[in-house]
Amino acid sequence: VSDKRGARVRAAAAEAVHAVAEHGRSLDAELRRLEVTLPAQDQPLFRNLAYGVVRRWYLYREWLDVLVDRRPRRRDRIVEALLCLGFHQLTATRIPDHAVVSATVEAARLLGKRSYAGLINAVLRRFRREDVEHREPDSDEARYNHPDWLLARFRTDWPDDAASIVEANNARAPMWLRINRLRFSLAEYESRLTEAGIASSRLAGLPSALRLGEPLPVADLPGFAAGDVSVQDGGAQVAADWLLADGGGRVLDACAAPGGKTAHLLEIGEVEVDAIDVDDARLAAVDENLSRLGLDATLRAADAGELGSWWDGRPYDRILLDAPCSATGVIRRHTDIKLLRRDSDIASLARTQATLLDRLWQTLKPGGRLLYVTCSVLAEENESVAAGFLERTADASVSSLLPNNNIRALMQSRGPGYQLRTGTGGMDGFYFAAIDKRG
Ligand SMILES: C[S@@+](CC[C@H](N)C(=O)[O-])C[C@H]1O[C@@H](n2cnc3c(N)ncnc32)[C@H](O)[C@@H]1O
Repeated sequence: VSDKRGARVRAAAAEAVHAVAEHGRSLDAELRRLEVTLPAQDQPLFRNLAYGVVRRWYLYREWLDVLVDRRPRRRDRIVEALLCLGFHQLTATRIPDHAVVSATVEAARLLGKRSYAGLINAVLRRFRREDVEHREPDSDEARYNHPDWLLARFRTDWPDDAASIVEANNARAPMWLRINRLRFSLAEYESRLTEAGIASSRLAGLPSALRLGEPLPVADLPGFAAGDVSVQDGGAQVAADWLLADGGGRVLDACAAPGGKTAHLLEIGEVEVDAIDVDDARLAAVDENLSRLGLDATLRAADAGELGSWWDGRPYDRILLDAPCSATGVIRRHTDIKLLRRDSDIASLARTQATLLDRLWQTLKPGGRLLYVTCSVLAEENESVAAGFLERTADASVSSLLPNNNIRALMQSRGPGYQLRTGTGGMDGFYFAAIDKRG
């Protein structure tokens, strides 16, 4: 990579990190916005650098405190992102020191921060000279690369498992596939992968899932464009498998976008699906996914809790409420969650979740079932919400339909439902509670 191009990659990565850390933007959205400004062959390096810095943000922030006496002025804060990018290249990549320093200094010039060139140069050299990389971190935030409030919640909710949750959050997530079983058996698609030289494995209890040995671009998956296969975490696949284990019928997918679970419901069940999402743009992704897979559902952009705005009064046999949540079970895939969420968000998410449960319950047939799902590992959004709902709802009871035995063996019983802890069986963190309506 030429000097100029190398500097441009660093500048773009610093912009992405800065947008997340300073302005609360989503990392994925920033990556998409900025990568189009770079040549295709530089985009993987750009993504890896930006992603890596956000993943280890709390450690790098501490190193900044050690090495920089005075923070740059607010409008020059992007220099901090650049320095963290420097630390990341020096400690987590094989880029030679001199190339790191020169590309990072040059990136500062591209960003109009020429006056910081000397500082960047000096800080990165001192970082090496004083072997800051190997000093014992002062804070738990730096040691575990998570904010204090989240560590505190993990310790309270999971006294025995907090460390393993943190470790899973900091690890790379595997890539999982969901085979379109309307077209192929798991074994048939497995042989197509083998023929293509792609290693994969099964997990007992997940009838549509294959876990890849190494992540790869979807374009390299046999039949992806034709709709033979989708990318979906193994844990996410538990939802449709469980909800439809004893039949389907009219199904409501109340928070559907981008449609992973909607498609799964349609691939495995005798179902008619209404899919709702409050976010228009995200609902368009449901449409795209279903078209690729050759599946059909009725899509509506609406607030699922405002029944008057979308419900025709015909009750559902099954409801999937994959509720908006902290997403603390998928931090390993969306590492910016650590920087974007606040402790105070959790109570307000729990209120939204409780309201959605109360309202949607009215659309469920007597004798029907609702599956409450979050990709959170926090009790306040999970067992507390489900238990509170059961307490105040006379015709609701914990379902006697249990998850598949093999999957249940991997989960922990929590309140009225089950928690899949992040990393267990290679899966994301999810909470599930199946609730039946008395007939
Ligand atoms: C966890 S995501 C759903 C993921 C999806 N079920 C899947 O498997 O691909 C939660 C979704 O809920 C939507 N949402 C949030 N509040 C909502 C509401 N009041 N009504 C409907 N959808 C809502 C968000 O836009 C978001 O797309």
